[in-house]
Amino acid sequence: MRAWTIHELGPYDEVMRLEEVDRPLTAGDDEVLIDVAACGLNFPDLLLASGDYQEKPDLPFTVGQEVTGTVAEVGGGVEGLEAGQRVVALPELGLGGLAERTRAKVTDVFAIPDWLGDDAGAGMFLVYQTAHVALHRRAAIREGETLLVHGAAGGVGTATIQVGKAAGARVIAVAGGPEKVAVCRELGADEVIDHQKDDFVPVVKDLTGGRGADVIFDPVGGDVYERSGKVIAFEGRLLVIGFASGTIPTPALGYPLVKNFSIVGVHWGLYRRRAPEVIRETHDALLELARTGAVAPHLHARLPLEDAVEGLRLIADREATGKVVVHVR
Ligand SMILES: NC(=O)c1ccc[n+]([C@@H]2O[C@H](COP(=O)([O-])OP(=O)(O)OC[C@H]3O[C@@H](n4cnc5c(N)ncnc54)[C@H](OP(=O)(O)O)[C@@H]3O)[C@@H](O)[C@H]2O)c1
Repeated sequence: MRAWTIHELGPYDEVMRLEEVDRPLTAGDDEVLIDVAACGLNFPDLLLASGDYQEKPDLPFTVGQEVTGTVAEVGGGVEGLEAGQRVVALPELGLGGLAERTRAKVTDVFAIPDWLGDDAGAGMFLVYQTAHVALHRRAAIREGETLLVHGAAGGVGTATIQVGKAAGARVIAVAGGPEKVAVCRELGADEVIDHQKDDFVPVVKDLTGGRGADVIFDPVGGDVYERSGKVIAFEGRLLVIGFASGTIPTPALGYPLVKNFSIVGVHWGLYRRRAPEVIRETHDALLELARTGAVAPHLHARLPLEDAVEGLRLIADREATGKVVVHVR
């Protein structure tokens, strides 16, 4: 089968090679083999290639953290899934989705309905799960609250705009440049701040009559995190999602004390092993939102397997809005 393979760690565009690989996979107990249709690309794919991700698969390996496809084979003990069924899945680390066939643990495989296309399915798993778990489970967002979304035109940001709107929040999005601002508006943000033109701090104060935002979703970190403390409301929740800026902030704890707000960590991936029922419940909730049209992933690019490196470049160079999806077959 064809697979993008990494034989040595380094910059993704130097170390990834599309090869015919001899990788006979078998499905052990509680495992599922999947013929991949589409693979959603994510920022951590870049980190895996360079060896900067927290987990390091054995060489050689393939990246690609989320796929849609059809079940090819199920191992012992697998119930509720059968060959030919359409699914979305999180492949085993190292056996990523930029390959024609992959393998996943049964707890990481979820049936999808016929009305959900392969591209949409591959583009709306990780980021929508993260947005939903962050806003509902971790921040307990309420209808009518104000949600401030940083990195709002990115993968998790675009998902959070839609999940926030579906929860009845007033959404203020922050993005850089006119194209990204337009994407945030199309996705339903009530207000959009272009951080290349305006400092979000005074604008958010102005838009909220000085109250600040009840929930702040921060996948950027660094200075963005530091200054978010200036615009969070009384009893607000500041969601720590990621550090796309490359800087992990060291928060001054005086702020949460004097302003009565909470700093709330979110590591969605931990639910896979600690509380998989949360992911299954969230999958059902998101499918219902997708069925009613309340959420639909914004796909920046749909590329053939041969162009997967170009897809990763769009993410690396900060050009992508929403999701980049690769057609594998
Ligand atoms: N906690 C979790 O469970 C979880 C789950 C998924 C993702 N994440 C993390 O969340 C972060 C964002 O992921 P994503 O998929 O949304 O990525 P993405 O699609 O690349 O979007 C990131 C956004 O961050 C902004 N940004 C600010 N400074 C940046 C910089 N120096 N380089 C690149 N982007 C920068 C960009 O927006 P502007 O250009 O508009 O400023 C960009 O659109 C990543 O760190 C990822 O690992 C965490």
